[in-house]
Amino acid sequence: MLNFELYNPTKLVFGKGQIEKLSELVPKSAKILLAYGGGSIFKNGIHQQVTNNLKGFEIVEFGGIEPNPHFETLMKAVAIIKEQNIDFILAVGGGSVIDGVKFISAAVHYNGNPIEILQKRILFKEGENVVPFGTVLTLPATGSEMNSGAVVTIAATQEKLTLGGSALFPKFSVCDPTVIQSLPKRQLQNGVVDAFTHVMEQYLTYPHDAYLQDRISEGILQTLIEVGPKVVENPNNYALASNFMWCCTMALNGLIQKGVPGDWATHMIGHELTALYHIDHARTLAIIGPNLYQVLFETKKAKLAQYGKRIFNLNGTEEEIAQEAINKTVAFFHQMGMDTKLSQYTDDYTKTADFIVNRFEERGWKGLGENQQVTLEKVKAIVEMSY
Ligand code: NZQ
Ligand code: ZN
Repeated sequence: MLNFELYNPTKLVFGKGQIEKLSELVPKSAKILLAYGGGSIFKNGIHQQVTNNLKGFEIVEFGGIEPNPHFETLMKAVAIIKEQNIDFILAVGGGSVIDGVKFISAAVHYNGNPIEILQKRILFKEGENVVPFGTVLTLPATGSEMNSGAVVTIAATQEKLTLGGSALFPKFSVCDPTVIQSLPKRQLQNGVVDAFTHVMEQYLTYPHDAYLQDRISEGILQTLIEVGPKVVENPNNYALASNFMWCCTMALNGLIQKGVPGDWATHMIGHELTALYHIDHARTLAIIGPNLYQVLFETKKAKLAQYGKRIFNLNGTEEEIAQEAINKTVAFFHQMGMDTKLSQYTDDYTKTADFIVNRFEERGWKGLGENQQVTLEKVKAIVEMSY
């Protein structure tokens, strides 16, 4: 097992009715920026639940954080916080609102042009340099409610870039599984596939001796396969909803990442597809992931075989099991309503591979993935295989 440090200060408040605890979670006498997205929280009653439980607090509202949040939009919230001396942010939304709030939190006291936070990938480690924030999760998928990373789009240049650092963990996150009842089917499907791929990024590398991390990862994958298709049809079923939500958090709260190698190349390539074609994040992963496993077959074969045996009970030679495991993954993504070819989302795909490779080259990214073996030639092959 690799050496590791585990630090996760987010207080997770999980379960039915837990939004009621907000007034105890937000610091007393805080002036709050309540940040939200396109307005779903007004239709499903979550806005009302939140404000009912924050009576007596001074609240300024900031809406309009779009899916794949834009730097340009978030900077408007940064200005409001500065003008109005706000000292706490409450993100009420999915990954986009929470990620957006992480950026806002980091940008308020940033000494310099905040676009550098994304372009230079500045790490935020000191609590006093950021505005503290908490979250009310409305969409299980990203794990953003219990991690310190975020992804923000610069609309002007169509770039989707990451930021993070240990100061950017939420102080608390309220995860009430009943919030998923109002989610459109498409978003429920996205959540399952995003969480599934988060596990794969940390699990599907090469065999190592971190046995427990493998078993936890396999437990999350099996649970997602078990509850995923059902929760999409029955979001009102609390057993399904709660297990789905907890899988999503556990997939990316840092636990299964400790002591093991990580890949993340599917995400890095997938982010480009969202930036270029506005394809939902999870759907870009369903397009790229299986082709990445195919192009990296030789180096991932042993782990693919472990995955095939333990998750899908496959038999045969290592090679056969590994190949069938990829097929089973694609079948699961199809069952979850994913189209897995780029040409199913856009007609304008023929130059995508070259465009992405050029971009990575400009950024100085030579090799992605565990052991940096996803070279630019392999990126090109993966994207072309995805057409
Ligand atoms: O904006 P509103 O009106 O709230 O509607 C949203 C949005 O249109 C809607 N929605 C959310 N909760 C709802 C709801 N509709 C009805 N009922 C509810 N309870 O769903 C739509 C999508 O929301 P969004 O937040 O964009 O989805 P998701 O949670 O999948 O987040 C995706 C973003 O997270 C990033 C992605 O790149 C993408 O930008 N990621 C963040 C990660 C992290 N911080 O660790 C990791 C992930 O890999 C991912 O990259
Ligand atoms: Zn993801």
